[in-house]
Amino acid sequence: MRIVSGIQPTGNLHLGNYLGAIRNWVRMQDDTAEKGGECLFFLADLHAISMPHDPASLTKNTRAMTAALVACGIDTDRSYLFNQARVPAHSELQWLLNGTARIGWLNRMTQFKDKSGKNREGASAALFTYPVLQAADVLLYQATHVPVGEDQKQHLELARDIAQKFNNDFASEDAPVFTLPEAIIPADAARIMSLRDGSSKMSKSDPSDNSRINLTDDADLMMQKIRKAKSDAEPLPSEPAGLEGRPEARNLVALYATFADISLDAVLQQFGGQGFGAFKPALGELLVEQLAPITSRFNALKDDDLVLDGILNKGAARARDVARPTLDAAYDALGLCR
Ligand code: TYM
Repeated sequence: MRIVSGIQPTGNLHLGNYLGAIRNWVRMQDDTAEKGGECLFFLADLHAISMPHDPASLTKNTRAMTAALVACGIDTDRSYLFNQARVPAHSELQWLLNGTARIGWLNRMTQFKDKSGKNREGASAALFTYPVLQAADVLLYQATHVPVGEDQKQHLELARDIAQKFNNDFASEDAPVFTLPEAIIPADAARIMSLRDGSSKMSKSDPSDNSRINLTDDADLMMQKIRKAKSDAEPLPSEPAGLEGRPEARNLVALYATFADISLDAVLQQFGGQGFGAFKPALGELLVEQLAPITSRFNALKDDDLVLDGILNKGAARARDVARPTLDAAYDALGLCR
């Protein structure tokens, strides 16, 4: 069992990343250790340059995201934690896989369409080939499982297609170069939505900070954002079917369920018939209570560049060792003499 996943260091860790992915990383880290497997988690700083960016902020955000992941419970003795730029094998394998990935496959990627918007011609080539780097990220380590939110499912399917085609074209059936990885998507928090609009996902790129709860927000700000979150005038239903057509209500109830680790049913049994005036403060308090230990660990670590760089250097050195045999096998399979 080898778990591999990444996150872009483009800003604060928000509830979408946390509940959709990072909380699962921490849980899988505990399970995997018991089963004798390994976990590799990385900051996708190479992916971050696919959009316009400020170099100084990228450095700062890479360290800040490292602190956030450690604060959330990533244990850097048991798991590998590093940034892509410290492991050049990611870029090397991406180039090798560019020979296998098809333009038609990349053309179907919805994230490219979303992020390039109306200005496709002006988008960077990196934004287009981004999913090939993501495939390299996981194939490099023979990942068996990749914990992600729903929005990354298509990229993971592409990684499997690339691995399959590479194995078919360049390896024998009994000695494949790459393992086909499986996406692990949380059933309850696959898609956390914006607090301002229940039909779009909570995202770092939303210009409104009120659309998301950042793990760095203080208690007052979290309570305020939940109070201001878009909702509706109806009381909460007593069963999940009653949330149909009420995306904002569904999102707030789902947040409560995920944090309290109970079902939607159980939340609605407790709050059914009550209005948001009663529900929002309860949700806000639950959130503050659960996130407070993470926020205080984050604050204690976030400015310690020496410690943070030390963590990344240690993780990267170990990751380079794990990557080496697969990278060598890929060069050899393609007939590249070195
Ligand atoms: P990124 O940085 O956008 O998000 C990191 C993780 O958080 C999940 N996520 C969400 N889950 C539920 N609801 C939301 N609103 C929400 N927003 C974000 C994402 O699904 C993701 O799991 N391309 C990736 C980073 C990446 C990667 C990889 C992931 C690079 N290489 C290899 C897995 C394996 C990205 O931009 O995620």
